[in-house]
Amino acid sequence: MADQQGGCCRCCCSFIFTLGLTALFMWLSLRTDNPTCYIQYFYLPGLNTTLKNSTNNSLVIELKLENGNKDKGIYYDAINLTFYDFPNKSHLMGNYTIPGFYQGHKKKATRLETVDLNKTLLSKATYPNGTAKFRVDLATAVRFKIMAWKTKRHKLDVGSDVDVNNQGSKTYEKKIKLRSGASDHKRYCAQMGALVSSVVLVFLDF
Ligand SMILES: *[C@@H]1O[C@H](CO)[C@@H](O)[C@H](O)[C@H]1NC(C)=O
Ligand SMILES: *[C@@H]1O[C@H](CO)[C@@H](O)[C@H](O)[C@H]1NC(C)=O
Ligand SMILES: *[C@@H]1O[C@H](CO)[C@@H](O)[C@H](O)[C@H]1NC(C)=O
Ligand SMILES: *[C@@H]1O[C@H](CO)[C@@H](O)[C@H](O)[C@H]1NC(C)=O
Ligand SMILES: *[C@@H]1O[C@H](CO)[C@@H](O)[C@H](O)[C@H]1NC(C)=O
Ligand SMILES: *[C@@H]1O[C@H](CO)[C@@H](O)[C@H](O)[C@H]1NC(C)=O
Ligand SMILES: *[C@@H]1O[C@H](CO)[C@@H](O)[C@H](O)[C@H]1NC(C)=O
Ligand SMILES: *[C@@H]1O[C@H](CO)[C@@H](O)[C@H](O)[C@H]1NC(C)=O
Repeated sequence: MADQQGGCCRCCCSFIFTLGLTALFMWLSLRTDNPTCYIQYFYLPGLNTTLKNSTNNSLVIELKLENGNKDKGIYYDAINLTFYDFPNKSHLMGNYTIPGFYQGHKKKATRLETVDLNKTLLSKATYPNGTAKFRVDLATAVRFKIMAWKTKRHKLDVGSDVDVNNQGSKTYEKKIKLRSGASDHKRYCAQMGALVSSVVLVFLDF
């Protein structure tokens, strides 16, 4: 009788243990990371003081989008880019939309685009020494492809300040990472919370 009870208990324990492991595994494989966005190239011919031609209001920008997920593809909705003259975000200098596309797992995508900015505002954008500062915001939504299944839309709202030298190109040599405000941290906390509770669940099973 006691043996039977022990067997039943063991069976029950291993069932719960398996359940815990499955939950952990499910969480690990369903977890998604938003793509990382960078500005690789940023050039305004009109602000190149060597060129001495301020009538050009183009901005040449190259974006790089990286899907860091090991086994999940990403469907991008249309990507909205918004450009501001830095000190006053009320000064909308221009906007641009890149059509949506699909990106496979562990893939990188680059987009080289020419955007026409507001001429009036651009002519006032530089400091007396020829440098300028802009704000670039990127807004889109992504869905992840997990095997044959598509997740719901995840909002992606990131941006960065961009310093431009008197040659009209970004001062910072390396690519600039576009960051979101607080949501990155919140997401990280949520993930840590889920991890901790999974671990606790597994330990409780012992
Ligand atoms: C600025 O213009 C000069 C003259 O055309 C050119 O040599 C230089 O490469 C330009 N600067 C940038 C950052 O492209
Ligand atoms: C300046 O650029 C504009 C348009 O890009 C062009 O029409 C004009 O001829 C250029 N002026 C000079 C002085 O190079
Ligand atoms: C401004 O310069 C860019 C890059 O040199 C060129 O592609 C564009 O046509 C120019 N814009 C105008 C209005 O001339
Ligand atoms: C920002 O905008 C306000 C009001 O529009 C203006 O008074 C202020 O001078 C602007 N600041 C800069 C640095 O342009
Ligand atoms: C983008 O700019 C154009 C013209 O400046 C404007 O008509 C349009 O509403 C803007 N779109 C967004 C999403 O801000
Ligand atoms: C450019 O910006 C100025 C000042 O904000 C505004 O009055 C003008 O309508 C804008 N031009 C275009 C083409 O959007
Ligand atoms: C140019 O002027 C701005 C504003 O006064 C300043 O922040 C910036 O450091 C200056 N840049 C250089 C290269 O002197
Ligand atoms: C991008 O802009 C389009 C057109 O203005 C708008 O319908 C769409 O909701 C915007 N997307 C995001 C993520 O803001």
